[in-house]
Amino acid sequence: MNDSASNAKQTIESAYAQRTRKSAELSDAAGRYLPSGVVHVSRYTKPHGLYASHAAGARKWDIDGNEYIDYFGGHGALLLGHNHPQVIAAASAQLARGTHFATGHELDILWAEKICEMVPTAERVRFHSSGTEATQMAVRLARAFTGKNKLMRFHGHYHGWLDDMTSGYISHFDGSAPIGVPPNVAANSVVVDPYDSARVERQLDKDGDIAAVIVEPLGAATGKVPISAGFLHQLRDWTTRNEVVLIFDEVVTGFRVSAGGLQQKIGINPDLTALAKIVAGGLPGGAVTGRADILAGLDYDPGKRGEREKIFHPGTFNACPVSAAAGLETLKIIQQEGACERANQSATQLRAGLTDALQTVGLDWVVYGEASAFHIYMGGTLSGHNEFEPERLGREKLYQQPQDIARLLRLALNINGVDFSGWPGGLVSSAHSPADIDATVAAFAASLQSLKPVLDA
Ligand SMILES: Cc1ncc(COP(=O)(O)O)c(C=O)c1O
Repeated sequence: MNDSASNAKQTIESAYAQRTRKSAELSDAAGRYLPSGVVHVSRYTKPHGLYASHAAGARKWDIDGNEYIDYFGGHGALLLGHNHPQVIAAASAQLARGTHFATGHELDILWAEKICEMVPTAERVRFHSSGTEATQMAVRLARAFTGKNKLMRFHGHYHGWLDDMTSGYISHFDGSAPIGVPPNVAANSVVVDPYDSARVERQLDKDGDIAAVIVEPLGAATGKVPISAGFLHQLRDWTTRNEVVLIFDEVVTGFRVSAGGLQQKIGINPDLTALAKIVAGGLPGGAVTGRADILAGLDYDPGKRGEREKIFHPGTFNACPVSAAAGLETLKIIQQEGACERANQSATQLRAGLTDALQTVGLDWVVYGEASAFHIYMGGTLSGHNEFEPERLGREKLYQQPQDIARLLRLALNINGVDFSGWPGGLVSSAHSPADIDATVAAFAASLQSLKPVLDA
């Protein structure tokens, strides 16, 4: 790195440190109690992550009083932005009435009914506390229904952190077991490259022990490694032909891509769908939904579940009434007020604005993404090709971004009042206004200028 690059890097890091002194203090304190001082992998960064004080709409504030236009959106849970007044009112009213009754509650039914109204393939619903639980239950239902054991997953696709879902996400692409996971559990996953469709078809045809295929239907990390609707149609055909349960993980895309999720947009019917995040209106919650005959594995009536053993599924916070109230209100707003379309439109404007900013600086980076998601590919391998072709680049190149540049870009954006994810990229909400989008593009352009000596080095 030359002198001007290291000066630019130092300028960004020290400006960030100056603005976020209280976050630095809390980060130090956190290190005494929490491994690496964080509670989620995406919050680990150097010199330290932000500590928030409050949020509203498309914005959040840190404890030093700095304001940010937020593109994390509660890890995707906040399609309507932070603290939507109707959602807060519904959740608060429920909080005052009680948080746990250990009995049935009318919201169990209203929430499930709304999901069945909105998600094309939803015939029955089972509630959970997270997306991690919802995907795991989908796999258990599939295994119980088919009597088969294995799970096909795709490199880089995230389905929560439980043992069945770990190999081949960020590591162990050969299917071996990550630390802490028993090898015999990992051996039940067949982890494949989504861009090798011939292998996917072959494997499904030849391995008679595959119970289910689970897929992030926009591609890994909400489309960072995109897959096509054409591939999903093929997957639907191949799974049907082999009596394999097709599970769409719509934990992020559900109620975001459209009111009925990605399945509604592209017209494919998965057998099961995992939901979380938006479904619970920004509070903890998740659900598995889909074919009644498969969810019947949870039914007390042996006749309904084909005389198979019943699947055991308790869960203290299944359909927690406060989450149910927030979730139901959120889904109603999405259904009635075109929130997905608004967020999608703003994201289209944002992607175009960020692309213009890149062209002004003369960088061969690419801004891409579907619906309300955006991703930034930081270039370097497009030489000889004018087009951005994700399938040609492959998962590794799409994921393996220059880590320190991504980190510095994030710090520079924070200095300029914007918070993107460290991928880099983010999710747009229906609360982002045209003025927010313009301000974000200006912040991006300013951040690129401050990074330029590092990029030129
Ligand atoms: C596609 C996908 N599936 C499952 C999960 C797990 O959901 P949760 O964090 O609620 O357990 C996530 C979380 O980010 C996700 O993005």
